[in-house]
Amino acid sequence: MSNVLLQGISKSFGELEVVHSIDLEIASQEFIVLVGPSGCGKSTTLRMVAGLEEISDGMLQIGDRVVNDIAPKDRDVAMVFQNYALYPHLSVADNIAFGLNIRRVKKPEIKRQVADVAQTLELTDLLNRKPSELSGGQRQRVAMGRAIVRHPKVFLFDEPLSNLDAKLRIQMRAEIKLLHKRLGVTSVYVTHDQVEAMTLADRIVVMHDGRIEQIGTPMELFRNPANLFVASFIGSPPMNKLSGSVTVKNAVPSLDIGHGASIKLRSDSVSSDDHGRSIVVGIRPEHMNIEPGNGPGWSEIPFDLTLVEPLGSEALIHAMVGDTPIIMKVETRNEVSHLNDATRFYVQAEDVRAFDAETGKALDFTVAG
Ligand SMILES: Nc1ncnc2c1ncn2[C@@H]1O[C@H](COP(=O)(O)OP(=O)(O)OP(=O)(O)O)[C@@H](O)[C@H]1O
Ligand SMILES: [Mg+2]
Repeated sequence: MSNVLLQGISKSFGELEVVHSIDLEIASQEFIVLVGPSGCGKSTTLRMVAGLEEISDGMLQIGDRVVNDIAPKDRDVAMVFQNYALYPHLSVADNIAFGLNIRRVKKPEIKRQVADVAQTLELTDLLNRKPSELSGGQRQRVAMGRAIVRHPKVFLFDEPLSNLDAKLRIQMRAEIKLLHKRLGVTSVYVTHDQVEAMTLADRIVVMHDGRIEQIGTPMELFRNPANLFVASFIGSPPMNKLSGSVTVKNAVPSLDIGHGASIKLRSDSVSSDDHGRSIVVGIRPEHMNIEPGNGPGWSEIPFDLTLVEPLGSEALIHAMVGDTPIIMKVETRNEVSHLNDATRFYVQAEDVRAFDAETGKALDFTVAG
């Protein structure tokens, strides 16, 4: 178990820089998830930590040791890949024991450790099988076993579940989380799936174009995205975005989003410079209610309904606010036909976010409560 420190880490392939000066402090025992769209530099970053990719610039520390020039096998890290890279001709037991054999650990000790890990991962009955005789989930567990048996300071995972079907993925996701709870090994996990990121991470690192957009707990990113990129990437369906401007009428400032709808702001959060400023209002589908809310701090926004998608415990309502399509998510218990009559949604002040229309950066306008 160990902390990991990335300081100004960059990576270039030839002339082209693909990871731009990343700073990240990972605490001992923390579960960190790197998430972002394809090509944003997640695997490259992870492979630099593993030592599989040379670091072009910056400093990488594992524990209190700078490891930039330390060979992968001496870094005390274990990596689990998307394709599990098991040896097809070896049994499950020998696959798990492979690293121990290389390090010339004594036979009885190897046997004990393999039995131990097999029990943890429920592989005991499969130890004599070959990888080709296993299901995808079981192969995944063997790959994990091979990593665990090395007692690394850090686990590195690169999309380890993406070859599994949806149901197995959810099951293995829970197993990885449980395993981390039990072993407490510092982990860095790469995925492009924001649900996987939300469910596994202590903290999520959102990457985009080789840069870090935001670092935070799943709920911090969900509640307070630092910019429109994170707002769109985290959450499903993504945060709804409505364009508007700041107006001050009769000394009352508001976010005017057109179509007769506006959201009141607290006057102390707006300066005279803000008048006329173009903003994007962000509202999560989950925070749009079709029943009016009680008390102050609620805004009402009219829409034209497009269609209702029932999903069982919830329904998605697709609608247009002016020219902007929005999606609302509402809880359902019984029939949903009444939702087709909805003409407006209600949102509470504390659930509204504002972003600068040009830079996409979150603004700290305080919505009147
Ligand atoms: N060996 C290489 N030579 C040149 N460019 C590379 C090399 N490896 C990766 N890249 C480029 O670096 C960028 C980041 O790649 P990386 O594999 O880290 O992305 P990723 O975030 O893991 O994406 P994905 O979700 O698709 O796996 C991409 O633009 C990719 O084309
Ligand atoms: Mg990748």
